Parts: sequence; structure tokens; C-alpha cells
Amino acid sequence: MDGGLIWRPVRRAMREVAVVGIGLIKVEKQSALSLRQMGVEVIRQAMESARVDEVDALYAGNMLADELQGQKHVASLLASEAGLVGVEALQVRAATATGAAALRMAYLSVASGEADVAIAVGVEKMSSAPATPALAKALDAELEVPTGATLISQNARLMQMYLERYKVPYEGFVNFAINAHRNAATNPYALFQKEVTPEIVLNSRIVNEPLRLYDCSPICDGAAAVVLVPADQARAFTDMPVRILASAVATDYFRVEDRPDPLALDAARLSARRAMRRANVNPRDIDFFEVHDAFSIMAALILEAAGFAERGEGWKLAAEGEIFREGRIPIATMGGLKARGHPIGATAIYQTAEIVLQLTGRAGPNQIPHARRAMLQSVGGAGSTVLTHIFEIMG
Ligand code: COA
Repeated sequence: MDGGLIWRPVRRAMREVAVVGIGLIKVEKQSALSLRQMGVEVIRQAMESARVDEVDALYAGNMLADELQGQKHVASLLASEAGLVGVEALQVRAATATGAAALRMAYLSVASGEADVAIAVGVEKMSSAPATPALAKALDAELEVPTGATLISQNARLMQMYLERYKVPYEGFVNFAINAHRNAATNPYALFQKEVTPEIVLNSRIVNEPLRLYDCSPICDGAAAVVLVPADQARAFTDMPVRILASAVATDYFRVEDRPDPLALDAARLSARRAMRRANVNPRDIDFFEVHDAFSIMAALILEAAGFAERGEGWKLAAEGEIFREGRIPIATMGGLKARGHPIGATAIYQTAEIVLQLTGRAGPNQIPHARRAMLQSVGGAGSTVLTHIFEIMG
């Protein structure tokens, strides 16, 4: 499958784009701030760090506010509350990949020349009401949700299939949680600030066979923002700009059960391939990879689909310690979705901000030495939309 298109790696007259400012608040189980206060705070921080008073465009990633806070039209609200009245402001959604979709729109807006300064802000407040049924609406409302399917149950199905097909013991997955919690423990913005042992993971309760608590990302509140400008002007905003080498998106058959091989995660494969072609890099050129570890099975499947492991062997990168900070392909370097937290619409913006901290040498105890290039992948639903972004420190 190649997305039903003949894809041509042609770059039209697009400008290169760089990230020059970041803003983020601590992920919390229940924030004392309202949705708008969270959004306004990170917009203010990101603009301050990029030394800008104005932006041309604002793209807001938010998946759940219409259901959980009764609030649609989030981008215009945030623009108004942040004192940016008059700017282009649009809300962007791609289910659980919403933050990455907002980042892509900001990227395209600057790359195309429509905006000279764009902000991508992600904000999600999942604590206000039961989030699980709202999240399940990322699936097919006619054919999947009425059967009781949720994102948890679909990922449990994928994990069960994986364990059976590749004859992997459950223990093979434990290091995904160990690594994420170890990295979150030293990230001041992370939800969970403590390490976990293999015993804690193995004895944690079953959420949906075979998924245990520590295979799942948590329900939480958070917000993050990044400022994007043309790369050739970036040094006017910051001494350490980070170039976005590529932004790509791909889709798969919407329902897991329609996919020829659900474990192939074809949208992840396709979007990674498109992004890597555009960036002219291959997996060996990537120093660390912020994966969508919403469930540990997703992390394993992404490592395979994006070309970092053979099919059926993504789990081995975890089991053999290669995903740790000192390993061959570090993932979740600031705690990942699992332990920094997964406030949906904000998640990929947190990851972008974390990539900027890593590539500019500001990741503190979590620093990956000599990191120059990073990849970010975000999964919408149970794999029906996947976005890939590749970043590089500007030399
Ligand atoms: N990992 C580790 N600990 C977790 C956790 C997680 N994912 N989720 C909750 N906890 C902890 C809480 O901090 C709390 O600990 P405490 O008692 O020391 O304070 C305890 O477990 C109970 O928390 P609670 O919120 O009652 O858990 P829950 O059973 O309601 O929720 C899950 C657990 C796994 C069901 C929930 O986190 C979930 O639905 N996750 C998936 C979210 C999702 O689908 N996101 C989109 C994916 S793309």
C-alpha cells in the first residue's frame, strides 16, 4: 500500500522553517488552571522565548474541549484571551495526533509564505469529565464504538496479536515503562516524577488483557506551545534555532479490522518514509525518536514501522536496553506519553518543545549527548492517521 497515490518527492517553492520559541507547563492529573488559562500561559511563554510581541497565525490543537468543557472554537478563544485579536486562528484536530496536526499547519503556513511567525499551541484538560468515551470517538462511531471498542481495547487487541504471532513473553515489554518513568523522574514538567521497577510494572493491574496499568499513558491536563519562523530569519529570534527538516502525514484503513495486517501500522511506515525522503535521512541518521508511546505496544509497532527494527523485533530494542538514553535509539527521552503524560492535543507540542531542549543542549539530566537530529511520530486513533516530523539543530 502506498496511500493510493504515486507519491513524488518534489519540493515546490517552500521556505525552510525553524522552531525559535517554546512554552510549556507541568502536566498534572488535574490542573487548577482552566483550559484557556493553560493555553494563554504557554502562548505567553513561547512568544517571550522567541522575543515576539505579535504572530501572524495561531493553530490550536485540542481534541476534547467541546465534550469535556463544552467549548468549541478553541483557537479563536485562545487568540482573543492571549491578546492576539485579529490574527488567523484555526483549531486543528486529528484525534490523538491533534498536537502534531497543529504543528503541521503552523509549519505549512510558514513554509508557504502565508505567515512569517506562526504559533502552534496544544491544550487539553481531560480531568473535567470521563475522558474514555470521548477518546473512543476517534474510532468508527457506527461500526466500532457500538461494540464497546475504545482506544484501550483496540491497543489490547494489537498487543495480544503481537504476543501470539511473535511468541513474545509479556515481560519483553516492561522496559518501555521503565525507560519512560526513569526519564520522567528528572523532567520537571512530567506528570509522574518517580521511577518504577520491573516488579511494579509486572504486578500492576490488568486494564484490558494483556494491557497492564503501566502499558498505558495516563489521563491528564497539559498545554504547550512553539513559535515557528522561516529558517533564514531564525537567528533574529534565538541563538539556537531548530530546523524542521520534514513534516509528513499518512492514513490507513480507518478500522483496525479492515487492515490487511493490523500489526504493520502502515500509516506510520508511510509517513516516516515520506518524512525521511523529504529530509534525505534514514533511521541511522536519527539520534533519538519521540514515539507515540500511548500504549507500549504502539511504541514497539512504531519502531518497526518507522524502520528502526525488523517486524516482530521492536520489543527487543526495549528488552535489550537500546531505547534508554545511552542506547542505540533513545525514545521518550523526557518521559514520553507514558510518564510525562498524554494530554492529547498538547502531546506532540510537548514533544516538539522537548526535542528543542535536547537539540539545544538544555535537557538537563535527560540530555542525549551530541544529539543533532530527532524524529517525532504521532498516532491518531488506533493508527488511522500518523504524522512524522524530523528536526535538526541549525549549525
Ligand atoms: N500509569 C501509571 N499510573 C497510573 C496511570 C498510568 N497510565 N493512570 C493512573 N495511574 C495511577 C494514578 O496516579 C493513581 O495513583 P495514586 O492512587 O497513587 O494517586 C492510580 O493509578 C489510580 O488512578 P486512576 O486515575 O483512578 O486510574 P484509572 O484506573 O481511572 O485510569 C487508565 C487508568 C489506564 C484506565 C487510564 O489512565 C487510561 O484510560 N489511560 C488511557 C488513556 C488513553 O486512551 N489515551 C489516549 C491514547 S492514544
